[in-house]
Amino acid sequence: MLKFVREVFRDIKNTGSVWPSSPALAIAMTKGLAARTGKRRVLEVGPGTGPFTKKLLKDLRAGDHLDVVEMNKLFCEALEKKILEPFRRSHSKIHVELHQGRIEDAQLDGNYDLIVCGLPFNNFPPTLVRAIFKDLMELLIDGGELVYFEYAGVRVIKGTLVGAKGKKQLKEIRGIRRELFDAHQGRQQLVMANLPPALAVRLRKAAVPVATGRT
Ligand SMILES: C[S@@+](CC[C@H](N)C(=O)[O-])C[C@H]1O[C@@H](n2cnc3c(N)ncnc32)[C@H](O)[C@@H]1O
Repeated sequence: MLKFVREVFRDIKNTGSVWPSSPALAIAMTKGLAARTGKRRVLEVGPGTGPFTKKLLKDLRAGDHLDVVEMNKLFCEALEKKILEPFRRSHSKIHVELHQGRIEDAQLDGNYDLIVCGLPFNNFPPTLVRAIFKDLMELLIDGGELVYFEYAGVRVIKGTLVGAKGKKQLKEIRGIRRELFDAHQGRQQLVMANLPPALAVRLRKAAVPVATGRT
């Protein structure tokens, strides 16, 4: 917890929240896993101190594969030491791999059934938001699910704190969100038991890609 708060002060843009997510949000973010049969491939992006990782690990079974991508070195060290390494020792039939670095640079095999994403998209430039969503969608199998979260009303609140350029960016991000939501059978769940309350947004990759307006 302290590690998280320290990193917020050091790098608020990429850390993107003031507090790790709650167990209730972790349940909403990971519930798609239960419906998947056979050996499942899962990707988590931006685990921070691991609230979603812990829930995923609880739900994985023998033969499953989890890749975790995190850019923050301190978070990676803590995740590996406190969560992933102890898990591997007692679950030799589940493959769990941590990739330290940005998701934009990660070398991943894809074919994921589920991607759980904790990235603070509202802090990123719209071009990067588009590029990351496009890459993540490509990493899913047809019918696979991408789940991300954002704080309820975040763009409205942030919009009151930034200048004209920031407002324009937030508007663009809202547009990207709407496009994705419409193109990928979007669903969302409000989770009040989180600080602050958050929306878990689920997108499903259609067998035939739908145009998103990007050239
Ligand atoms: C909002 S925090 C979420 C942490 C955790 N999932 C939670 O909900 O408490 C965002 C996390 O994404 C990581 N992150 C930000 N940009 C990233 C990128 N481009 N690639 C990988 N990780 C990134 C940050 O270091 C941070 O750990």
